[in-house]
Amino acid sequence: MVCEVSIRPMTVRDLQACWELDQRCFADGETYDRDTLRYLLTNPLVIARKIELPDGRMVGFVIGSMEPGGVGHVIALGVDPQWRRRGFGRLLMDALEEAFSEHGATIARLEVRVDNHAAQALYQKLGYTVTQHLPRYYTNGEDALLMMKPLPSPAPDE
Ligand SMILES: CC(C)(COP(=O)(O)OP(=O)(O)OC[C@H]1O[C@@H](n2cnc3c(N)ncnc32)[C@H](O)[C@@H]1OP(=O)(O)O)[C@@H](O)C(=O)NCCC(=O)NCCS
Repeated sequence: MVCEVSIRPMTVRDLQACWELDQRCFADGETYDRDTLRYLLTNPLVIARKIELPDGRMVGFVIGSMEPGGVGHVIALGVDPQWRRRGFGRLLMDALEEAFSEHGATIARLEVRVDNHAAQALYQKLGYTVTQHLPRYYTNGEDALLMMKPLPSPAPDE
């Protein structure tokens, strides 16, 4: 890692920065619009984290939600193209999974495009396995892979 970064909760106050970063991270047709991000960042079931440089710039974010049955659903993960392969994606996923566990989740699930090999490599490294192929999952007709990972129980308070 090249510099000290911090991981903090992402809130609706980060809406504009998150939207701009999302635009840089995802291709046309894969980005979230502001209304969807606002809905997510104000939803009490949603857990969102951002990764910041010492100057306060957001260079990565992750959004997940708690679902019934102790499932944590990873909704979106993005790292600024200029700041990739520094372990930031992994740090964000670790933080989200920890929060999922604290909220009682025992399993994490996510969907990833079949051709998104970078994200699949990250998720595999983190212990996710493919459990299902979802044909035409995305609006453009692309297939997804459903990946899952059992989560450990949260560490007891000292
Ligand atoms: C997927 C993404 C979040 C990864 O972020 P990142 O900060 O670069 O990931 P990390 O540096 O934490 O990578 C951890 C490991 O994942 C794997 N990995 C990450 N990117 C990879 C790539 N492009 N090719 C192959 N393996 C990759 C590697 O094993 C890597 O470890 P290493 O660098 O020691 O080899 C980033 O590429 C991104 O924002 N992509 C566009 C948005 C996206 O696809 N999001 C996920 C779908 S919602």
